[in-house]
Amino acid sequence: MSRLTVRPGPPLRGRTRVPGDKSISHRALLLGAIAEGTGRVENLLPANDCLATLTAVRALGIEVEELSPTTLLVHGRGWHGLQEPDDVLNCVRSGTTLRLLAGLLAGQPFTSVLSGDPQLRRRPMGRIVEPLRLMGATVLGRDHGRWPPLAIQGGRLHGIEYSLPVASAQVKSALLLAGLYADSPTTLHLPGPARDHTERMLNAMGATVETKEAAAGVQPPTSTVHLTPGQRLRPIDVSVPGDFSSAAFLLVAATLSPGSEVTLEEVGVNPTRTGLLDALWAMGASVTLHEERTVGGEPVADLTVRASALRGTEVGGSLVVRSIDELPILAVAATQAEGETRVRDAAELRVKETDRIATTVEELRRLGAEIEPRADGFVVRGPTRLRGTVVHSHGDHRLAMALTVAGLIAQGETTVQDTDCIADSFPGFESLLVRLGGQIS
Ligand code: S3P
Repeated sequence: MSRLTVRPGPPLRGRTRVPGDKSISHRALLLGAIAEGTGRVENLLPANDCLATLTAVRALGIEVEELSPTTLLVHGRGWHGLQEPDDVLNCVRSGTTLRLLAGLLAGQPFTSVLSGDPQLRRRPMGRIVEPLRLMGATVLGRDHGRWPPLAIQGGRLHGIEYSLPVASAQVKSALLLAGLYADSPTTLHLPGPARDHTERMLNAMGATVETKEAAAGVQPPTSTVHLTPGQRLRPIDVSVPGDFSSAAFLLVAATLSPGSEVTLEEVGVNPTRTGLLDALWAMGASVTLHEERTVGGEPVADLTVRASALRGTEVGGSLVVRSIDELPILAVAATQAEGETRVRDAAELRVKETDRIATTVEELRRLGAEIEPRADGFVVRGPTRLRGTVVHSHGDHRLAMALTVAGLIAQGETTVQDTDCIADSFPGFESLLVRLGGQIS
């Protein structure tokens, strides 16, 4: 099991790119598989999670040519081109793979079984199983369908009008993929602005997906998505922008390391993803956007971050939805901010790769942070001088990277144990930080 040893060092400086967006990479593979012909994917994220989707797509009979680890040709076979897999589809540790595939497979005239590592088999599936059954799918799983493995007997589906209890993009996307195969429209109501990459890509491929956001000021800030089924998908070329969720670790690392200045090129800045930017700005961070442009229907920009002092802030409501994967690294930033930072409305953190409220609190406390768990978030009091020690990732990629960044500003040496999981979303994280000046071995 690998580990990283981190020490505080010189300022972080330089220009770089982060790897491709994880969410968009999954969708490029899955939607490409059912498009009517060949689409090219540039800058695909070659991380474990996306490779699980790639392996599954191939197991469904789709030919994917790898021109390089990040450039692929997906030979889509159209609406009814998928074939019954002859073995369990192993989604490894990727919740997005399992949930999106479940939606896609619910409309296929064959049986498939989805499973993965123990970490994935502990993640709740009732949130997709229940509405997929309402659409007419037969889905079996442990404890009445609450946990993987899931067995899906696909078949004829009906559109539904359904209110999601959580603002989850995985659930929304699973139901949209199933909805493509339904005999009537699907309308989904969400209690917040979950990432909309599926809708953007479907529209770019010629499907009709309409989104209506509640008027400004309406609480909660609901959104409604309406999908017209049965439309053929045109193959498209997708150029995947850099992953804002990966950039987040570098934004915080440079903010906290005195004298730093880093520019991250071509990062996705879809507003459903950039809640951390709003939180960092509210804390007094210096992050500027340049060269804002649209690439393949997704907003992209270069981000320049300079070290700066921070003050505490409040994060709740739709800001949580827009920064759900960034809350562990926000907690690290908060340890260096003057005053209190409160995160609420974030109970979803408890059902991510780990219970991220419990694991973030436990590990940051080892480093000397003043952080208290709450049922739906945490409270951090700062600034505190962190002290290097041995910390553990719990097998959670985002916690492993957040702790590595904490190690860059902790006194003495920090050892982050069990860091293989970083490759689930950000292969090359360590070497990229080292190139910018990070003292990591
Ligand atoms: C994702 C959605 C989010 C996010 C995950 C990726 C996606 O999960 O945490 O890392 O690609 O749709 P939820 O939809 O469960 O919030």
